[in-house]
Amino acid sequence: MSAKSFKVLITHPEVPQSGIDLLNENCELVRVESLPPKRSELLQKIRGVDGILWGGHEALNAEALDAAGPQLKSISTMSAGIDYVDLDEVKRRKIPLGHTPTVLDNAVADLAVGLLIAAGRRFHEGRKKIETGNWENYHLNWMLGQDVRDSVVGFYGFGGIGQAIAKRLSGFDIDQVLYTTRRRIDRETEKELNAKKVEFNELLAKSDFVVIAAPLTAATQGVFNATAFNKMKNTAVLINIARGKIVNQNDLYDALRSNRIFAAGLDVVDPEPLPPNSKLLTLDNIIILPHIGSATNRTRSDMATIAAHNVLRGLAGERMLSPAY
Ligand code: DGY
Repeated sequence: MSAKSFKVLITHPEVPQSGIDLLNENCELVRVESLPPKRSELLQKIRGVDGILWGGHEALNAEALDAAGPQLKSISTMSAGIDYVDLDEVKRRKIPLGHTPTVLDNAVADLAVGLLIAAGRRFHEGRKKIETGNWENYHLNWMLGQDVRDSVVGFYGFGGIGQAIAKRLSGFDIDQVLYTTRRRIDRETEKELNAKKVEFNELLAKSDFVVIAAPLTAATQGVFNATAFNKMKNTAVLINIARGKIVNQNDLYDALRSNRIFAAGLDVVDPEPLPPNSKLLTLDNIIILPHIGSATNRTRSDMATIAAHNVLRGLAGERMLSPAY
């Protein structure tokens, strides 16, 4: 492959060196240097490039593609989710687009299991009890939470991340995995994970832990609303490691405040960053993390490597390692 004459834009100054080094071997690099990256700098530096490593969650839309120009041949995001990409615009221009799923499955799954236990066993509330001088361990039934053992874990979306979570949870002696997806997964994986595909209402009614692991699309936006929460067990714990907009946050607040459901653990919210005065932060029965599912050194570096390979393959007219469409 010869890509020496190609010019590639790196849209974020903190893209790990592993990706930069790969691209640097054969391409002239142009880099956005502002932090947070300024849209104006991006729109200026994008002009005339052949490839782009899209390093953040900045909107990748017609404005950016127009600014780049018709020579643009290859783009890769450095994320699994591509909800900030106007996919129709990219497809219309027939520009190959890559992303980085799979490589982050394990890191996100680890975090999801952490959230599930932390929310079910009231870590946040417990910490607050200490800080406020309310360590009331003279109660016999103090701070009781939900068991993972023998629980039914329901997945809304059951791709690589969901399956990696289920695999980990099998070590916690859960009873069963249920999942709701458009298409049934292969029988062997179902058997291995003791997983059964069910309708959404059944998932809600039967699950002790409900894990959202689906992409954000027009069909998934706002699906977890008051109607859904009212179908869940009042002992249920909701986990979201996917995208904040899949949950109606006002309805979630009401469901948690009224103890309609037991607790929630969120790595993703809407908007991000969550304003420090968000009413969600006033609740005891919620754990909120600042979207750090894939934030480990190794995973970030691997994401950059795969994104760089995607870009290089697109430039060479080859199939990307992980094409987004
Ligand atoms: C992803 O890659 O989609 C993760 O949410 C991190 O952005």
